[in-house]
Amino acid sequence: MLSKISRPLLALVATPVVAALLVGASQGGGATPGSATAGDPYFPASGNGGYHVVHYGLDLGYTPETKQLQGAADLTVTPTQRLGSFYLDFSGMTVDSVRVDGRRAEFSRSGTELKVTPQRSLDRGRKVHVVVTYSGVPENVVDPDGSADGWIIQPDGSVFVANEPQGAMTWFPSNSHPKDKSTYDVAITVPNGWTAVSNGRLRDQRSHYGKTTFSWRESQPMAAYLSTASIGKFQTEQYVTAGGLPVYNAVAPSQAAEAGPVLAQLPAVIDWESRLFGRYPFDAAGSIVADAPDVGYALETQTRPIYDRAPDIGTLVHETAHQWFGDSVTLTKWQDIWLNEGFATYAEWLWSAEHGGLTTAQQFAADYALPATDSLWSFPAGDPGDGGHIFAKPPYERGAMVLEKLRQTVGDRAFFTILRTWASENRHGHGTSAEFIALSKKISHKNLDALFTTWLYGKGKPATP
Ligand code: ARG
Ligand code: ZN
Repeated sequence: MLSKISRPLLALVATPVVAALLVGASQGGGATPGSATAGDPYFPASGNGGYHVVHYGLDLGYTPETKQLQGAADLTVTPTQRLGSFYLDFSGMTVDSVRVDGRRAEFSRSGTELKVTPQRSLDRGRKVHVVVTYSGVPENVVDPDGSADGWIIQPDGSVFVANEPQGAMTWFPSNSHPKDKSTYDVAITVPNGWTAVSNGRLRDQRSHYGKTTFSWRESQPMAAYLSTASIGKFQTEQYVTAGGLPVYNAVAPSQAAEAGPVLAQLPAVIDWESRLFGRYPFDAAGSIVADAPDVGYALETQTRPIYDRAPDIGTLVHETAHQWFGDSVTLTKWQDIWLNEGFATYAEWLWSAEHGGLTTAQQFAADYALPATDSLWSFPAGDPGDGGHIFAKPPYERGAMVLEKLRQTVGDRAFFTILRTWASENRHGHGTSAEFIALSKKISHKNLDALFTTWLYGKGKPATP
């Protein structure tokens, strides 16, 4: 049997035509296709392999009346292997062209993957520019927990752009997994009277023939899920804090009265968190306050959190704390979401404790008093199980309980040293739960295995507080 099949095959291989085809298929010189996934089981379609995006240059034009978006995305890409082809995450829209270093590249689409095959394979370590031009009306993603994410168009044509965890692909082609962080230049052109707000510093704003272009630069590395390009008829405010940080606020007029006094506290909140967590990680700050209550959440978009309505002070404290925990120190797998949400929730606890609310110990006790049937205990903070549960109660509230438990075990001095060291050692980088546990042990000189096993990874309500 075997020999009967293999003999004719061998004969075929020997012919020059087939030999050429085989070389073509492997794209010569050891080039291989990049992977179509970052390998995260919570969001298998997010991210790709074989390259790192150093920088995104996005040039966008948006027409609120028709909801049409026109885009040119210029990605500076460093291959991490010799690449015959590679994938970008991109959903919806019409791709008009793809060029690699100026030469037209072949492309094809399937699901949320855009496959790019350059004319020549790419050398490992040699930077190239990948330029994708596209157009259409973007469609937001619906996450497994039912929430909307990505480019979320409001009835009046304004746009709420919040990409956690997977919405970046709805408005630009990207390597959309937090493992890969990049700097960004985002220019957005909108009709006069509209304002487009992205991350980092506003470098330029100019009007021409009835349209205004807002040019933003995020010069610290950013995960795609933290990018934004939100558009509205905002009231804007710009100032520089006493510490020299430029602040840019954009607020929907309907929310201005309520948001004003809360946003005014941003410099004080940044100072207070800087004392607790170490130097503020970015070179800009601010807020985007939309009138989009259907969205149902706020997001810690880098340097400039976005709120679906006027935030209360707790929410502002929460999203600001994420600038250290999530934005600067970023997770490498979505399972570790408590490193974001538990820490930001704990910042809220610390704020209340200092402003006449419960102490953190009382907050912990109040949570512990919840019955075993409460959703707080439905799964471990450190193991939500799938992408549908990352924004549920345990990573937030039980995540904060883990930190309070740690504080009570190691003492205030070691605890705040752990938080500050975590933020400084991983500044503009990444961290994992295992690394946080190792750091906590190293700084406290304590064996904390039982603590983390019970409070971070234990199923159900722990037997004792
Ligand atoms: N990280 C945000 C916060 O807690 C929540 C984002 C929720 N996103 C979603 N698609 N449900 O501040
Ligand atoms: Zn959060």
